[in-house]
Amino acid sequence: MSPLPAAFFISILFLLPQLHKVCAASHAAGRNIPTRGTCNNTCGTIPVMFPFGTGFGCGHPYFARYVKCNADTLQFSTGTGIYTVSSIDYPTSTIVVADPFMSTCSSMQNSGSFSLDRTSPFTLTGSNIFVLLGCSTTSPVFDPSEDLCDTGSGSRVCSGLYSCKGVTGIGLPQNAPTSTCCVYDSLMGIGSGYSLDLPKLQCSSYTSIYEFGDEGDPMKWKFGISLKYNDSYYTPACKDCETSGGLCGFSGLDESFSCICRDGVNTTTNCFGHGYTWSGAWEPKIQTKTSIGVFLLWWIYLLV
Ligand SMILES: *[C@@H]1O[C@H](CO)[C@@H](O)[C@H](O)[C@H]1NC(C)=O
Ligand SMILES: *[C@@H]1O[C@H](CO)[C@@H](O)[C@H](O)[C@H]1NC(C)=O
Ligand SMILES: *[C@@H]1O[C@H](CO)[C@@H](O)[C@H](O)[C@H]1NC(C)=O
Repeated sequence: MSPLPAAFFISILFLLPQLHKVCAASHAAGRNIPTRGTCNNTCGTIPVMFPFGTGFGCGHPYFARYVKCNADTLQFSTGTGIYTVSSIDYPTSTIVVADPFMSTCSSMQNSGSFSLDRTSPFTLTGSNIFVLLGCSTTSPVFDPSEDLCDTGSGSRVCSGLYSCKGVTGIGLPQNAPTSTCCVYDSLMGIGSGYSLDLPKLQCSSYTSIYEFGDEGDPMKWKFGISLKYNDSYYTPACKDCETSGGLCGFSGLDESFSCICRDGVNTTTNCFGHGYTWSGAWEPKIQTKTSIGVFLLWWIYLLV
């Protein structure tokens, strides 16, 4: 072997780790590039995907009315208030909503009412158990002819909740008689419409349990309102946009489909050719690799 090619191969051995570093650096840079578009794929710790969006123009217009990101909190609005989205499960199309004034085992307080708009794309899932707490004994829910409270397994849920220390928050002693508690049985409204009107029901608070887990310990019950959303809005155009690294949104007075790319540009099709993608891949990375490759070839050419 002549000394020239040997020197060349040794240099290559030294260069390889450097090349790797250059690529890693540009890869990291790709992830930290600030988004110029108004849409984000996360809100706080919650991944936000279609049909949801983080702001106006993001996601599906029908959902943008109900869900938006405000100061890193994903909010769900209905006619009765603004609630916090605590989780979204995309494969099952369900979200869990937390009402800050709803009672839980650890903290009970006077609550407001809760309603779902009849025309909204959200419906209650069957896993919610709604419990009315601190009701007046003259409350219409205790009307024996109406049969509104579940007096079977429901009484166990009531005694569980009344054993919580938090019950003092609604002016009851711990382990108070459960005669002021009702596991509300008949609340599935027609369609998606649903409303829990506490003043009308003469109850001071409510809670919703969507998972019991270890049934015996009410501290371990999962409190929140589980909702199913209509997942039939995902279109091939949106899929194409997502594949290209964009986020689906809408624009214009007609709220027509728009693909929002990471560089802030929004198109009617997809983001191919618009620089950054959401996965952290960054087109200039390929350019860096290419230019190093060209440089090496040129160097080899000079050596031989
Ligand atoms: C996107 O959301 C994350 C987490 O909420 C936040 O840190 C980041 O600043 C947001 N980016 C933009 C452009 O709003
Ligand atoms: C899309 O582009 C239009 C015009 O440039 C802009 O007004 C709008 O805010 C953009 N939408 C989003 C979601 O970035
Ligand atoms: C879901 O939305 C589609 C499209 O708007 C509609 O046709 C369908 O009836 C909705 N499904 C439910 C269960 O509301």
